[in-house]
Amino acid sequence: MNALSGIQPTGRPHWGNYFGAIRQYIALQDHPQRRQAFYFIADLHALTTVRGTPQVLRNNVRDAALDLLALGLDPTKATLFRQSDVPQVTELTWVLMTITQMHLLEKCHAYKDKREKGIPADAGLFTYPVLMAADILAYDSDLVPVGVDQVQHVEVTRDIAQRFNGMYGETLRLPEAYVLGTAAKVVGTDGEKMSKSYGNTIEIFEEPKKLRKKINGIKTDSTPVEEPKNPDADSVFTLYKLFASPEEQEALAARYRAGGMGYGEAKSALYEAAMSHFGEARERREALAADPGTLEDILQAGAAKARAKAQEVVDRVRRAVGLSSG
Ligand code: ADP
Ligand code: TRP
Repeated sequence: MNALSGIQPTGRPHWGNYFGAIRQYIALQDHPQRRQAFYFIADLHALTTVRGTPQVLRNNVRDAALDLLALGLDPTKATLFRQSDVPQVTELTWVLMTITQMHLLEKCHAYKDKREKGIPADAGLFTYPVLMAADILAYDSDLVPVGVDQVQHVEVTRDIAQRFNGMYGETLRLPEAYVLGTAAKVVGTDGEKMSKSYGNTIEIFEEPKKLRKKINGIKTDSTPVEEPKNPDADSVFTLYKLFASPEEQEALAARYRAGGMGYGEAKSALYEAAMSHFGEARERREALAADPGTLEDILQAGAAKARAKAQEVVDRVRRAVGLSSG
């Protein structure tokens, strides 16, 4: 079983990203049936939105790699690399493009939504799913962990692979989406779903003072300090549960119910719990960030492994379609 996923380098990850996605990606590196796990930073895809600011793109890519490594991605178990370091994928994209039917791409959300709103779209956005198909197919991926929003792209990948195999004979391995658990919707500082687009996020590696401030800003009701409170109706407690053991949760819940505790105290408990939960990751991140050579070595070693695998697949494809075979 080969697992593969791409992560867009779009700014600093928040608690929702961690509990809803990153943690699960990383856990796959220990999957008992895993043979290979490939994780890449999708910088070519990011080019469809981060444009005209090369330094921003470079920094975002580096940050995304640091985040994953700090949070537990182990380069001895999983292969981490930059998408653009594997030119075989862009070659495969072209070949796939020649057999991809327009209607498949016309129905893809990212493009369709823009079209419907009358926003001009680039060819890059239109063909985004073909690049993603090449990403997946270039590594003979079986399992593609993604959020629900990306399932459509994995379906398109299967359609493209099937059409290719139908025309040229069995060449490409059909992948399956592995939808990351959506049960855990992490709430933001306003009690709504935590999301960058709502401006209610708490970042994993927020600087401690700012973290404190953000936590202090979590919306609570106006029950006076002395009165009993319902932990299950409070965002501070809901977030605290992400970090605390069942015993710790029960202890804080009992204090809510007993009355005499203000929300400020619960916020302090949340701050301490979050600092302790991400403490090691924070230290690892700082150490790695101070050692850019090691980070680059990890990415380059990952890219070499990824290129070797992708070349195998590209050779198969070249032979199948009648290009000079490598
Ligand atoms: P945002 O909404 O902040 O833009 P993204 O759409 O980039 O976040 O999300 C990336 C991944 O993080 C998705 O796969 C999604 O499953 C997960 N995720 C984001 N926000 C949450 C949340 N509040 N709760 C659970 N998972 C989340
Ligand atoms: N499009 C994905 C996203 O926005 C990122 C991505 C690019 C990806 N290539 C991939 C995910 C291949 C899985 C497999 O989240």
